[in-house]
Amino acid sequence: MSLVKAPDNILIPTSKIDLDKIRNKQIHLFIIGHGQVGGLLIDQLIAEREKLKRRRRIDLAVVAVANSSTVLFDKDGLDKDWRSRKQEQGESYTIPQLIERAHRHGLYNTIMVDNTASPSFVLNYLPFIEAGFSLVSSNKVANTLGMEFYENLRERLAKRQQDYLYETNVGAGLPLIDTIKLLHLSGENITQIRGVFSGSLSYIFNRFSAEQIAFHKVLEAAIAKGYTEPDPREDLCGNDVARKLLILARELALHCEFDEVAVENLIPEPLRGLPTTAFLDDLPALDAHFESVRACCDKDEVLRYVATLDGDLADDFGAQMFVRLEAVPKNSMLGQLQGSDSIFEIYTESYGSNPIVIQGAGAGPQVTARGVFGDILRISERVSA
Ligand SMILES: NC(=O)c1ccc[n+]([C@@H]2O[C@H](COP(=O)([O-])OP(=O)(O)OC[C@H]3O[C@@H](n4cnc5c(N)ncnc54)[C@H](OP(=O)(O)O)[C@@H]3O)[C@@H](O)[C@H]2O)c1
Repeated sequence: MSLVKAPDNILIPTSKIDLDKIRNKQIHLFIIGHGQVGGLLIDQLIAEREKLKRRRRIDLAVVAVANSSTVLFDKDGLDKDWRSRKQEQGESYTIPQLIERAHRHGLYNTIMVDNTASPSFVLNYLPFIEAGFSLVSSNKVANTLGMEFYENLRERLAKRQQDYLYETNVGAGLPLIDTIKLLHLSGENITQIRGVFSGSLSYIFNRFSAEQIAFHKVLEAAIAKGYTEPDPREDLCGNDVARKLLILARELALHCEFDEVAVENLIPEPLRGLPTTAFLDDLPALDAHFESVRACCDKDEVLRYVATLDGDLADDFGAQMFVRLEAVPKNSMLGQLQGSDSIFEIYTESYGSNPIVIQGAGAGPQVTARGVFGDILRISERVSA
């Protein structure tokens, strides 16, 4: 405690914490999920806290960190030792208890950050909104459930004037959703979106098309680099790409459902029902199928797993969505893709046949965590002190 002199020479007791709270905009973060993305995000937030206070007058305090079993809560914000503290002091919890705790401590400017991949957790978004939280999410599920849930979520947010940002749902840290949203809101007519949306499938077909290599060898390399899900059929079935395409379509206010995306499943029929270990033990079983596909390419073509949104995009119900393996010209932008990069071509009326192109690392926990951090900062800038 220190003493500050008021103009009339009366001494007013104060403290460093009080001054900090007056000087800086206080933001209270509830981080759900601390796996690869969530864990890195918490470390990034804690590492940047003092700098953000100095430079932006924003104090981002991570007040709660939870996984599916326990939560660690500290109303003043957690520090670098959050992992060990959570192991020692983590308590079981329910969502209503967590929300009640925020209210009991008078926490305002609250943001719930979903870094799970859980389909059931997204049902908690509504109670968080009702309790005054804004939302940030790397979890795609809430944006790919039925239109009824999607629209209801947005109505509730609008009613309470709260934000929900999810830039990392498509293209990880790339500034894609924001760009599409801005183009659409500014009245620019988007006529087509097309690209390679999956880092793992980008790597697999970039290499498979460029080298005389067996398909299973490339897939093994992708697994070893950590590019695929533990069961790579989750990548090869195309559903994750289809979800990303659906999210982009909905950003254009198109009314569409997941089952309207025509998806080419890349897993040969007999291998779809195998247990994971049996599938992983016999990856060469994929070779014959992909060898025959590669043989159909002309010499100046390469294979790419391409997502396309087109149709009559001025009509709410006019979207056509395809996700499929295509032979594209080697010298096209998609054909020149390298490594595990993603690429998004956005065609609009004003830009004509020259699309806006966004390209770069479209996956990976580091860039995803940075993207989530960016969403948190955007909301923090908007809320009042
Ligand atoms: N990794 C990437 O490169 C990447 C890129 C773009 C987007 N994403 C998205 O980012 C999200 C997180 O990915 P990740 O790689 O960090 O996953 P992860 O390592 O599997 O971590 C998931 C975390 O969520 C927790 N969790 C699961 N269900 C929960 C529930 N019902 N309630 C509370 N916590 C729960 C898990 O805790 P338990 O231990 O209790 O299960 C774990 O801490 C996913 O939606 C993913 O699609 C990831």
